[in-house]
Amino acid sequence: MAPSVSDVVPSIADAVDDLKLTVTKQDNGPSYPFYYPYYDPEEKFPPTQVYQHTDPGAKADRAKPHLLTPETNVSHISPFIGTEISGVQISQLSEDGLNELALYAAERKVLIFRNQDFKDIGPDRQIEIAKHFGRIQRHPTSGNVKGYPEFHVVYRGTEHDMLKEVIPDERINRTQWHSDVSYEKQPAGTTFFFVLDQPEVGGDTLFGSQVEAYNRLSPEFKKRLEGLRAVHSAFEQAESSRRRGGVVRREPILTEHPLVRRHPVTGEKALYVNQGFTRRIVGYKTEESEYLLRFLFDHIAKGADFQIRARYEPGTVVVWDNRVTVHSATGDFNPGDRRHAVRLTPQAEVPTDV
Ligand SMILES: [Fe+2]
Repeated sequence: MAPSVSDVVPSIADAVDDLKLTVTKQDNGPSYPFYYPYYDPEEKFPPTQVYQHTDPGAKADRAKPHLLTPETNVSHISPFIGTEISGVQISQLSEDGLNELALYAAERKVLIFRNQDFKDIGPDRQIEIAKHFGRIQRHPTSGNVKGYPEFHVVYRGTEHDMLKEVIPDERINRTQWHSDVSYEKQPAGTTFFFVLDQPEVGGDTLFGSQVEAYNRLSPEFKKRLEGLRAVHSAFEQAESSRRRGGVVRREPILTEHPLVRRHPVTGEKALYVNQGFTRRIVGYKTEESEYLLRFLFDHIAKGADFQIRARYEPGTVVVWDNRVTVHSATGDFNPGDRRHAVRLTPQAEVPTDV
């Protein structure tokens, strides 16, 4: 059996010492050193195999009686995307409740759960819950947790600034709209993200609805997009990691996906292109592809009326459906502040437009 957090982390002071972090009088190191980003250059993953995914949302009761109980408080952030939820613990949900969570995340695109005990239930239980939504992706280049390659660790502090590594200082802003690991043959579906340490202000996540981005297009333009496929690339991410002397645990791939995909449970159509990973339109010449992608990226980025901003509080868990959304980090906080968060990324079906 895998060790619990308390076995692995006898005390913050010991762990911080192991990690050779600079600890000042004002800074006692990360609150959850167990999840400090771990990189083993010897760790290698084989090519990812396709598996049969059945979305748990398909089994859910549409009324969601296990998730939305009389104790649950629900508040929508925008008509198109985002709902804040309190009065329910993800960790206590039954199988029916988790199925309803999948459906609700698909319908609302982003769910912001407050006051969760999720960060304290230990890695095995966290993974067990996330696995309900699909096989968990093992990230090829990001920090993970020793013995737990399922965790994707996002860390920014004085001693390790992941955001700076990914988005260099030459950019005038750090907005980078993307859908996680869309280069996978089976990209991310219902995705979990929880924060362990956060700056006093800043470090929000921006989210946009790709369903509404699609709906805004004219019928004629939608016809033009029908049947098109786009190439999503893992190469730049791998090359960037190699350049920094980082790890590449799995060889990068190129994958074609439909430019418009249909959600298997809600039936909604969504744009499925993103600036982070989509490189070209299959069958188009270079200028044609650049022209169309530039328009779509611009349309998605400018759609403030179908975007929200998720703010974190201690105990917040954000669950979003990566199939029907894009998101971006905001690198707006003091570089001396620590932001430490963890993602669990279940993989969903092979994208389809039917
Ligand atoms: Fe992301």
